[in-house]
Amino acid sequence: MKLSKSADLPWWQRAVIYQIYPRSFKDTTGNGIGDLEGILNKLDYLNDGSSAYPNGGIPPSLGIDVIWISPFYPSPMADFGYDVANYVDVDPLFGNLQTLDRLIEEIHKRGMKIIIDYVPNHTSDQHPWFIESRSSKKNSKRDWYIWRDPKPGGSPPNNWGSVFGGPAWTLDKNTGQYYLHQFLREQPELNWREREVKEAMLDVLRFWLERGVDGFRMDVVGMILKDVELKDNPPSSRTDPNLPSNDIFGRQMHLYNEDQDEVHQVIREFRKLLDQYDDRCAIGEVWYEMPRWIKYYGESGDGLHLPFNFRLMHLPWEAEAFRHSVDGLEGAIPSFGWPNYVLGNHDGTRLASRIGTAQARVAAMLLLTLRGTPTLYYGDELGIENGVITQDLMQDPQGFRLGLHKTRDFCRTPMQWNSEPYAGFSKVEPWLPVEANYQERNIEVQSDDPSSMLNLYRQLLWYRCNTPALVHGTYRPLNVDHDCCYLYLREHSEGSRLVALNFVDQSHTISIPDGGRGEVVMSTYLDRAERVSLSNLLLRSNEGIIIEVNS
Ligand code: NOJ
Repeated sequence: MKLSKSADLPWWQRAVIYQIYPRSFKDTTGNGIGDLEGILNKLDYLNDGSSAYPNGGIPPSLGIDVIWISPFYPSPMADFGYDVANYVDVDPLFGNLQTLDRLIEEIHKRGMKIIIDYVPNHTSDQHPWFIESRSSKKNSKRDWYIWRDPKPGGSPPNNWGSVFGGPAWTLDKNTGQYYLHQFLREQPELNWREREVKEAMLDVLRFWLERGVDGFRMDVVGMILKDVELKDNPPSSRTDPNLPSNDIFGRQMHLYNEDQDEVHQVIREFRKLLDQYDDRCAIGEVWYEMPRWIKYYGESGDGLHLPFNFRLMHLPWEAEAFRHSVDGLEGAIPSFGWPNYVLGNHDGTRLASRIGTAQARVAAMLLLTLRGTPTLYYGDELGIENGVITQDLMQDPQGFRLGLHKTRDFCRTPMQWNSEPYAGFSKVEPWLPVEANYQERNIEVQSDDPSSMLNLYRQLLWYRCNTPALVHGTYRPLNVDHDCCYLYLREHSEGSRLVALNFVDQSHTISIPDGGRGEVVMSTYLDRAERVSLSNLLLRSNEGIIIEVNS
């Protein structure tokens, strides 16, 4: 399938992004860990490049436009690749540069785009830059990282905590100074106030842009600049009483360790560089609340194309809360900005475990019909739930430090291809166990079931791509008398669509005064195509529908 025909929008506005966690997608080497060759082998599942659609049947492939691959760089894997030891190569575990080149080529052949992770805040402690930097106080790369003397008495330079628990500083006995790491001690933070660091890291972007990647997902990009004086953070007034005792990070207001004004200057430089190439895209992992977050688009659209919008991942599954969040974004976004939505990723609970499998279908319709670029996490199209991870199976360093309930292994279990052992992911026992229900919940089985979650995703993706109202129609919420339903119009001159989502396990009849009639073109149950009166609109329990309203 090709990217939607609405040629007047850039690709990253028309696209649906699909995140692949490469360790968990497909193992072709027989070591229990996914690899790039595995992604290559499975490209047709994501998008076979054809534009054929069997009339009334099921679209031939998922119809993804953009693949985002989490880090595949050489790494000791202390944080499974987010500890990069070489920014311009591929870890042998995943393949090599030639495999990656073939992957880029094959992705492009199918009319898709490829986005890769860029990890600017920290390297691995095994990166040659850090090895040099820590070798002596006089080393020319000493200032490439953030080194400070201990406080009198020997304690760390300030009170900052690591996201993964404990202090954000580690003392290097050799040179008697502490270095900063807001994640693992194996992830020392680069000093972006040092010109040479910036140059070297811009060169990394150039390397990949020249190699043909279409964009970057920039890891914790808001963290790359810290307060010049590294002032202490004040305590947070909203601390969760259940935080593990070592979670210093969770107990502070993050005034000085991240989101400093100067970060926008660096982001402008990223953007300037990308703009020298044809049609590339910068996405950022940015967690802040609205007024701070919105700044990441830049003052005049010279910032990130898409600061990731994670808000919907953390809301209670309630229609009103969702409408409020979407309306808030729609109201705040500048005219040059473009919305985007994320419902799942490699750091959070699986969507189906968060809201249940029945509502996960409603969530699919929401994600793929809101105005903005959706990002879909691998396996959510099957309704994969959290894996069962016991202490002895745990791999994630966050879990080791903050406790089993904080492990992210739950959402990183292998992709479920078929009913064979290990779900067809690997011939040997995978690095994480496959989800318990894989015999029913896999691509082969769901492909054969016309009403499966997978086929819902396929149809939604296909429909979205071919419906201008869903790609670039305006968004207008409707007030309805049932606060457990969320309705919005996507209006467009070529025909508008009404999306009606029932967030609960109970049917409701909705009345839209003067609504006229419309044609239901899709239900999340995939069983409904009928003309309906909008003044008497039945939504079954756990149902979402799309209605063509101008017919
Ligand atoms: C955010 C990434 O999503 C997460 O997986 C990683 O552990 C941290 N950044 C550190 O790079």
